[in-house]
Amino acid sequence: MEKNCYILGIESSCDDTAAAVINNDVILSNVVATQKIHEAYGGVVPELASRAHQQNIVPVVHQALQQANIDKKQLSAIAFTRGPGLMGSLLVGTSFSKSFAFGLDIPLLDVNHMQAHILAHFIKAKGQEPPSFPFLALTISGGHTQIVRVSDYFDLQVIGQTIDDAVGEAFDKSAKILGLPYPGGPLIDAHAKKGDSKKFMFPKPKVSPLDFSFSGLKTAVLYFVQKNVANNPNFIQENLEDICASLQHTIVDYLMDKLKNAVKQTGITRVAIGGGVSANSGIRAALQEAEQKYGWHVHIPKFEFCTDNAAMIAMVGALKYKQKYFADNTVTANARMKL
Ligand code: KG4
Ligand code: ZN
Repeated sequence: MEKNCYILGIESSCDDTAAAVINNDVILSNVVATQKIHEAYGGVVPELASRAHQQNIVPVVHQALQQANIDKKQLSAIAFTRGPGLMGSLLVGTSFSKSFAFGLDIPLLDVNHMQAHILAHFIKAKGQEPPSFPFLALTISGGHTQIVRVSDYFDLQVIGQTIDDAVGEAFDKSAKILGLPYPGGPLIDAHAKKGDSKKFMFPKPKVSPLDFSFSGLKTAVLYFVQKNVANNPNFIQENLEDICASLQHTIVDYLMDKLKNAVKQTGITRVAIGGGVSANSGIRAALQEAEQKYGWHVHIPKFEFCTDNAAMIAMVGALKYKQKYFADNTVTANARMKL
């Protein structure tokens, strides 16, 4: 790749409007505008997300170029999230990127958001060691729960995924039932640190060995709370830390069961995680334990590359640019894009 190759990455698949510039695997800027408006609704409202993307995209891109200290005329290509995600949100990033690339007369690179979460591990950053191939990638966030066998940058195979809710949704919806604000995942984590994880039992949903299901867990939490609050109106306040610890323990154990099954089935012991839920202290501790106990090699990217961001989009863009995997100008957003 030429020395002065600058690629602008644009991400708008859900509720974060993001732009980043990469120069030879090194991120020069990584700007994210998180949409606060959804907090009041306890979850992402698609129509409001699209409107906020429209407001944010120009200033966010402007800031990314400014922080990278380059002019738009220096850009070599534009990489954007084509899918999967919310259609209205994706359309904003897609139309913007197509017009911008057309105006600058530079190539366009379409990026799969899930592939980007995985290839974020290849961003050159201090303290971040890229996994060698093949490895297993567990992507866990508010929108995704997947286990992928990664044989090469462009050879990925989904070997397990959720059949209903994502794991982040299980955290957030359970938190809502417990009266905690959105997004409740980090709050459950904080309360869990002070609680007894063996105090309460929650069921682990039974599906095929590498797949996940979380909708039953949410219902179990609802019934558990309703039953106990009927006997004691202060049940949640009096037991919040123990409930959070027990719930987190169940979720983390469930994720680890699936990872162990995947390691057993594939014989691959290199495991890379990504997505907002990888911030969870329980999953981090469990993975560290697995390194000691089973000799796994665990990779956790820097947090700014774990949550939705455009640096990961720019990274995939850079890899595609090297291979000349360009998109043509008829490319459209794909809300259900597969890996
Ligand atoms: O990747 P992300 O920023 O956005 C997408 O959903 O794509 O992930 C956000 C999700 C939310 O569900 C949030 O509750 C969860 O990640 N999360 C956590 C923690 N930090 C963020 N869940 C559990 N423990 C945490 N510490
Ligand atoms: Zn994501």
